[in-house]
Amino acid sequence: MVSAGINFDSLSRPAVDLAEELLELKRDRNAVILAHNYQVPELQDVADFVGDSLGLSYQAAKTDADVILFCGVHFMAETAKIINPTKRVILPDLDAGCSLSESCPPEKLAQFLEEHADKNYYVIAYINCSAGVKALADVICTSGNADKIVRAAPAHRNILFVPDQNLGAWVMERTGRKMDLWRGTCYVHVEFTARSINRIRQEYPDAPVVAHPECTYAVRMLADEVCSTEKMVTFCKESPAPEIIVVTEAGLLHRLRKEIPHKTFIPGPTDNCFCGECRFMKMNTLEKAYDALSNMEPEITLPESVRKRAEIPILRMLELSKQSSS
Ligand code: 13P
Ligand code: SF4
Repeated sequence: MVSAGINFDSLSRPAVDLAEELLELKRDRNAVILAHNYQVPELQDVADFVGDSLGLSYQAAKTDADVILFCGVHFMAETAKIINPTKRVILPDLDAGCSLSESCPPEKLAQFLEEHADKNYYVIAYINCSAGVKALADVICTSGNADKIVRAAPAHRNILFVPDQNLGAWVMERTGRKMDLWRGTCYVHVEFTARSINRIRQEYPDAPVVAHPECTYAVRMLADEVCSTEKMVTFCKESPAPEIIVVTEAGLLHRLRKEIPHKTFIPGPTDNCFCGECRFMKMNTLEKAYDALSNMEPEITLPESVRKRAEIPILRMLELSKQSSS
C-alpha cells in the first residue's frame, strides 16, 4: 500500500524480513549498498561497504554495479554521482544534508573568490560540501587525507580552505601551512567541549581519547589521537587499552562494538542533553532504503556542466591520496 510517498508495506514488516528483501532487491537491480560509519545499525548491517568519506569515494569509483544505494548524506551521494555519471545513485532521504555543506553556498564562495581575486586562491574543499562548491575548488580532501592534500598544494599559492574551520585549523597545525579558513562548523562535533571531555576522563582515567578533527581546538588538545572515522576504527583495534573514549557522532559505536567486541567504547559526552547523533545521517532508515531501491528514487541528478567541473578536483584527490591513506 502506498500513500503520500510512504510505503506502508515496508513499515509493517519486521526489520529482519525487510533487510532480506532489500538484499534480494539489491541483487535484482545489480546495486551496491554503500553506508557511512554514522548510519543506523540496520543500514550498516546490510551494506556491502561501511566506511569514512574517503573509503566510500574509492568504493564508488571502483564499483561495476548499475545502481548505487548510498546510505549517507547528500554530499556523499552527490560525490558518487559526480564520478559515476552513467550510474543511478539513490539516496534514501533527499533531505539528509550537512551543516558544513550548508555553511558554504556556492554563490557565496563564488562571490568571495571574485572579491579576493588578487589572492589568486588555490581552493581546497573538504568533501562535506555541495557539487557547486566542488566545481569551484582546485582539489577536494577528506578528514582521512587532508594533510597529504594540503602538503601537495603549490607552495607559491595562497590557500583558501572551505568549509570547516576546525578541520582546516587542525591541518594547519599538522602541516605548518598557512591557510585562510571558511567559517563553517559541524553542528554535532562542536557540541563536545573541554569540560565534557575532562569530566569523562576523570571517570575513565586510563581510557585514551580519540576525537574527530571537526571538534574544536580545546577538544583536540585533550585527545590522544585525532583522525577520520576510519582511522578511529584502526586506532581502536590497535590500541592495547580495554576502554576507549570516542569523540564523534554516535553511529560509529555500532561498527566499533561489532568489529572489536572485547573492548568497551565510551561515547564522548556533551555539556547538555545533546545525544551526539547527526540528525541528517539519522534521516536514512531501513524502510526508506528499501522504498528508495524499490522505486528507484530519490535519485541524485546534476547539471552536466557542474558535474564535469566538480569531477576534476575529486579525481585529483583520489590520485593524490590513493587508498592506503584512508
Ligand atoms: P569521515 O570522513 O571521517 O567519516 O567524516 C565524515 C563526517 O561527516 C564527519 O562528520
Ligand atoms: Fe555534516 Fe556534521 Fe552530520 Fe558529518 S556529522 S554529516 S559534518 S552535520
